[in-house]
Amino acid sequence: MTHEITVLISGRGSNMQAIHQACDNATLQAKVTHVISNVPNAAGLDYARQHGINTSVVNHKEYSSRELFDQALIKTIDRAGPAKLVLLAGFMRRLTAEFTQRYHQRLINIHPSLLPRHPGLNTHAQAIAASDRWHGCTVHYVNEALDGGPVIARAIVPIKNGDNVDSLSARVLAAEHKLYPAVVQLCLQDSVACQDSHVKINDTAIRNPLLYYYQ
Ligand code: GRF
Repeated sequence: MTHEITVLISGRGSNMQAIHQACDNATLQAKVTHVISNVPNAAGLDYARQHGINTSVVNHKEYSSRELFDQALIKTIDRAGPAKLVLLAGFMRRLTAEFTQRYHQRLINIHPSLLPRHPGLNTHAQAIAASDRWHGCTVHYVNEALDGGPVIARAIVPIKNGDNVDSLSARVLAAEHKLYPAVVQLCLQDSVACQDSHVKINDTAIRNPLLYYYQ
């Protein structure tokens, strides 16, 4: 069965592309049917259009409040039919509880750090400044807490001598492009369940969600 996925972006959309390519080569049994951006000229929209994916823009600057923006976003998502999953991929807006509850356990994000370490912005600079030896990315369900929803999986990468923000972000981004499609596939085949804030994979309760290692 092919599930329909909606992806929300704000920029270049390389994670959206990785998801779309995984669908194309059937490592992910899904179809990206709708890409929505809050930024009208986001580069990821061009990729989506070139690949025949339905695109929409909901420009946050046209709404006087977060609530009104989120309501417009909900309308745009739901108008296209019930997506099995709504994925945030570099979507740079905080979402209201109304939004996150509507897509409860269908709303997933990828964050460029090993959450709960380094939530928020500039995660690569934060990791270097903290002299961390390890860094990575986290796929998690989205709730109203910023970068605080239940963790499904993490990918860990080393921080090497001489790394700067550019070299580290490139290493993490490569890991993101592997981790996100893999975790989405697990979610779609119902191998991931979330009760309260406890994530279970394949019916086995795990204290530490899935951890991948990419070098
Ligand atoms: C990624 O690092 C993602 O984890 C973060 O923003 C970046 C977006 O990159 N939330 P892209 O737009 O998917 O290329």
